[in-house]
Amino acid sequence: MVAERTSRYNFTPGPVPFVVSGGEGVFLHTTDGRKVLDGAGGAIVANIGYGRPEIAEAAKQALTGMGYVAPLWPTENRLRLIERILDRWVPAAAGEAGLTRCFLVSGGSESVDTAMRVARQYQVAKGRTERWRVAGRATSYHGATIATLSVANHDRRRQPFGPMLADHPKIDPISTEAAIKDLEAANPETLAAVILEPIVGSSGAALISESDYWSTVRQFCTDHDILLIADEVMTAYGRTGTRMGFEHFGPAPDVLVGGKGLGGGYAAIGAVLAKEFVAEALAEVGDSIMFFTFSGLEVSVAIADRVLQILEDEDLVNRAAKMGAVLRARLEEEFADHPHVGDIRGLGLMQGLELVKDREAGTTFGGALTPAIIGEAFKRDCWIYPAGSARVPDGMMFGPAFIISESEIDQLVSITRESIDAAVAGLQS
Ligand SMILES: Cc1ncc(COP(=O)(O)O)c(C=O)c1O
Repeated sequence: MVAERTSRYNFTPGPVPFVVSGGEGVFLHTTDGRKVLDGAGGAIVANIGYGRPEIAEAAKQALTGMGYVAPLWPTENRLRLIERILDRWVPAAAGEAGLTRCFLVSGGSESVDTAMRVARQYQVAKGRTERWRVAGRATSYHGATIATLSVANHDRRRQPFGPMLADHPKIDPISTEAAIKDLEAANPETLAAVILEPIVGSSGAALISESDYWSTVRQFCTDHDILLIADEVMTAYGRTGTRMGFEHFGPAPDVLVGGKGLGGGYAAIGAVLAKEFVAEALAEVGDSIMFFTFSGLEVSVAIADRVLQILEDEDLVNRAAKMGAVLRARLEEEFADHPHVGDIRGLGLMQGLELVKDREAGTTFGGALTPAIIGEAFKRDCWIYPAGSARVPDGMMFGPAFIISESEIDQLVSITRESIDAAVAGLQS
């Protein structure tokens, strides 16, 4: 019945065997009465959990007596959200370094696209018109638009679009030395920016670079007047146990983009933060940022402000760190010796498993294992996030709401174990 209904409109009939009717906490409810344990907050988005009445109240207030307001006009809701982000969510170190400007958009891809334009506008404002390329990691995902696909390197997602993608250099995602060599080879004089996810999410299953990677690339950018863009669409607003993901690794970027957790899944919203000197360069030549029609939509900003307030009031960033440690310990316990788990990694409540065919031989299932596991987890009323691309053919990620309990974590890890074992048995039979 579900398959019949979805096949009428789906581009690609998906394996989702239920219709979602609601949710509470870390569970989604379905029309046939199931409770699905959401181990990934949808798409690593739902950080405060499902069904929060305070959010419905905030949305109602924002929509009462107010409709559309053009993006560049201030409203109380817009000002309150921007002040909250800049005053309370940008870490003090970044504040001192001047992440002082904020531009609202409607999601992650829009925020990255905007950051790429800002970097280009900055270089043009400085008279360096030859600089337009944005170096990205060789394992990365930055969004679904043509520009953001160009700068990233998620092979499966880029595959059909080859001729449409601009030629942006790719740098080693793990080794600091190799990344710097790649940047030198790319010719820094042609680069407007470098873009990095602090932790590589969907393409790398929570891949983390060498410990000096961030600070070394940061210094390289400073030395060559290349902007460092942090793509924190997945990592910002508490997901990794700190307010922003870059705090784990070193000094602030010049531009920081966020989306997902900013609206907690209740609103489509993203924010582009930039240092003062970037905004000043644009202002000096009378340039400004192009907006999208729905940038800073009234209901979205009111919801995002309420989501951040809930995170603050309930101390949920610290909870993400604490429950992340619990999740990590359970994953280590269950999978440290598992023959098909090659690596366990991540920070806070952004944890990943890299999956292999044979640990010793270093072979993989070439991308076939991940969907099989996700399908097995669905059968057990659980959602885990599929991850991986070329360098990491099979992977999965956990990114539940920060309110997850220890017993729910136990349940999640047990189902993951059963799903991996069942999927491997299916592929080997
Ligand atoms: C790191 C990163 N950047 C950008 C995006 C794109 O965000 P959106 O899907 O909201 O456009 C994503 C989405 O998964 C992401 O993980």
